[in-house]
Amino acid sequence: MSLRASILATGSYVPDRTLSNEDLEKMVDTSDEWITTRTGIKNRHISGAGEYTSVLASRAAENALVAAGLAPSEIDILIVATVSAEMTMPSCACLVQNEIGAVNAFAFDVNAACSGFLYALSVAEKHILVNPQLKILVIGAETLSTRVDWQDLNTCVLFGDAAGAVVLGSSELGDGLIAEKLFSDGSLHNLLYMDGAQSLNPALNNGEYQGSFIKMVGKDVFKYAVNAMENAVRVVLGQAGVDIGEVSLIVPHQANIRIINKLTQKLGVDAEKVYINVSKYGNTSAATIPLALDEANREGLLQSGEYIVLCAFGGGFTWGATLIKWQ
Ligand code: COA
Repeated sequence: MSLRASILATGSYVPDRTLSNEDLEKMVDTSDEWITTRTGIKNRHISGAGEYTSVLASRAAENALVAAGLAPSEIDILIVATVSAEMTMPSCACLVQNEIGAVNAFAFDVNAACSGFLYALSVAEKHILVNPQLKILVIGAETLSTRVDWQDLNTCVLFGDAAGAVVLGSSELGDGLIAEKLFSDGSLHNLLYMDGAQSLNPALNNGEYQGSFIKMVGKDVFKYAVNAMENAVRVVLGQAGVDIGEVSLIVPHQANIRIINKLTQKLGVDAEKVYINVSKYGNTSAATIPLALDEANREGLLQSGEYIVLCAFGGGFTWGATLIKWQ
């Protein structure tokens, strides 16, 4: 049986502070009813002073390390998927390395927006296949509350802050990451973006710059997200020769309940086979999948030998799916 990269442990962390739909009603012209029916989101967690992306990432990483029974010094590679690190340079991963004391790791970030965790997992897997002894921390972490225009009704109700992490190692049992397929289409970058580079943003040059906020054409993103994730899931199942009926749990990117429900319907799977926690956290971009995976793990929903599918969609556009046989 061939050796595979395998998730040895999961961990997550969210800030204590919360922002409910009722809180948002007091800030902008919205309603709990509108947000709930359009998005399924009821609540988000919002970082407080000093709770930077690297801090959330570090707490999630520490929780995953405890679950794995590993010391920080035993980690060989540390990868953070994020689009909202508190610094452009150095990487968020280097800040996390310092914060948790992963002194023997090399560290770098991956930017694939909401698909970032699956991209980072893919990179980590390739290292494991070359050297099965490695232990790799793969983290998705965001503080999107710092990137939201709190006056923009279209986006301010959607996003939240969180981090999730996994420790990747190897399994000789043939379980682990079975198949993956990642996609990008940069021609659609204008439908979901956050400009920040001075050379691309004229507003930065006239002294009126207010910050770099998420901008989105919601309806188009919605349509693409459903079709892209459905296709990605079908491709990975096809690669592995696994029937959708054999899958125990699908853990999709948590952006919007209607996207998830439509995906569920198009894939023809039972609703209870799809993990959903978007109501509690909103869209936490690269953090949604590892956060959901950790919750599902702690709820006992990930059983040895079962097929789990992860799928994501995000700015870029980027999207993809990963098929795992849980160890
Ligand atoms: N609260 C109250 N009303 C709002 C609102 C809000 N937060 N946001 C928009 N509206 C209003 C609009 O102004 C519009 O009013 P009008 O009919 O008087 O013009 C109406 O609601 C409908 O707006 P629309 O943009 O057509 O809503 P929608 O049904 O497309 O829902 C989204 C908007 C953003 C929820 C939806 O497009 C979506 O979920 N898209 C995907 C977003 C996403 O998940 N992105 C990340 C992917 S990684």
